[in-house]
Amino acid sequence: MSLKRTKIVDIFDASLVGQQVCVKGWVRTRRGNKNVQFVALNDGSTIKNIQIVVDLAKFSEEELKPITTGSSLCVEGLLVESEGKGQTCEIQAEKIQIYGTADPDSYPLQKKGHTMEFLRDIAHLRPRTNTFGAVFRIRHNMAIAIHRFFHERGFFYFHTPIITASDCEGAGQMFQVTTMNLYDLKKDENGSIRYDNDFFGKQASLTVSGQLEGELAATALGAIYTFGPTFRAENSNTPRHLAEFWMIEPEVAFNDIVDNMDLAEDFIKYCVKWALDNCYDDVKFLNDMFDKELIARLEGVLKQDFVRLTYTEGIKILEEAVAGGHKFEFPVYWGVDLASEHERFLVEEHFKRPVILTDYPKEIKAFYMKQNEDGKTVRAMDVLFPKIGEIIGGSEREESYDKLINRIEELNIPMKDMWWYLETRKFGTVPHSGFGLGFERLLLFVTGMSNIRDVIPFPRTPNNAEF
Ligand code: 4AD
Ligand code: MG
Repeated sequence: MSLKRTKIVDIFDASLVGQQVCVKGWVRTRRGNKNVQFVALNDGSTIKNIQIVVDLAKFSEEELKPITTGSSLCVEGLLVESEGKGQTCEIQAEKIQIYGTADPDSYPLQKKGHTMEFLRDIAHLRPRTNTFGAVFRIRHNMAIAIHRFFHERGFFYFHTPIITASDCEGAGQMFQVTTMNLYDLKKDENGSIRYDNDFFGKQASLTVSGQLEGELAATALGAIYTFGPTFRAENSNTPRHLAEFWMIEPEVAFNDIVDNMDLAEDFIKYCVKWALDNCYDDVKFLNDMFDKELIARLEGVLKQDFVRLTYTEGIKILEEAVAGGHKFEFPVYWGVDLASEHERFLVEEHFKRPVILTDYPKEIKAFYMKQNEDGKTVRAMDVLFPKIGEIIGGSEREESYDKLINRIEELNIPMKDMWWYLETRKFGTVPHSGFGLGFERLLLFVTGMSNIRDVIPFPRTPNNAEF
């Protein structure tokens, strides 16, 4: 075996036809008869397999026996145009080296279709399926698109800490980080746990959002974005929640809520267009196998302006729907935190395109959002998407020191943990805005997958931390 390897993604280049090539990969299927065998080989570089034609005049049955689904090979031979339908070229094998076998009695990925639930139980092997190969190639491409989008617009990629002592969203859904001996916790006279001997000398957790540190950076560098893992210990077993997910959080000095909405809309459209332009084979595969409307939905988002309306107007539409006989599982009234069925009704049934809802009641939003003059609402914005519901959450930020501190006091947020954040408002405060896009929610939309556990390699959810 002396030839340089060609990746399968590059082998379909017409200029290689007629040449000796070398490919390496894993066997997807093998079929044939006494004279000739056909091996479909995949190396992960593309959804496409290359067909290896094995002439039994050149190889003995004994040599070919270990070539079963899942085994790994190096093949050298002549690349020729294919006569069979479905592929443009194939390799007439001259040398085959078997790297590793995969016993058909125990290798779980035999040819038959598997359920997504079964594949989740073998998450260590599922990247070898067509579906997960496609999903994870798209995942990579979306990460590249995100960095390009912001880099092209002069945003700086800013790294915010994973371990933190503050609760950004104030929802108390944090995983604790400790090196204390849990069998021997020291308590003070009130029965509270003493953290002064813990690793950080205080209670620490995994971050739910990089926003607060992102604001420090935006009020210095002008425009930044974060892109990293975030953690939420919310016990929601839904197809849209993970305990560990990736979030992209741009934050921009001098942007108001309208600039923020424009940025969010441009950003999502850029990512969706990137998927269509750069991952078409994979998107087409998912479209044909799982969701026949996927490509139409992606193209639809690019063509349409997102609807922009206030929460109050949104509630009115939902109340009218209820009055007209529409049944929701959860009640609708001004002040309620919208459920995904409500969000999806607005997007899928009422407007039939993405919606940006603004000016939510302050009670259901985080402390840092800019307060409106009405005293009831804040300058929040959620971007709502077909099939997903909320894909982005963001706001203009409260830049007034006094208003922010009043809100912090009202909500009983421990002030001593917030001193550094408050200094952005004390020293050269400016209007600024930002938002968070859930990376896996974007991937749900772009891949058409219906469960968020199927767009991240190793999902973390309640009662599940395998692999
Ligand atoms: O709406 P959220 O909670 O907003 C924030 O964290 C702000 N600090 C963002 C900001 O303004 N910088 O979360 C933002 C997005 C949601 O819209 C959703 O897409 C995603 O993060 N998200 C989740 N994705 C998967 N699993 C979960 N448990 C998620 N929780 C939020
Ligand atoms: Mg939100």
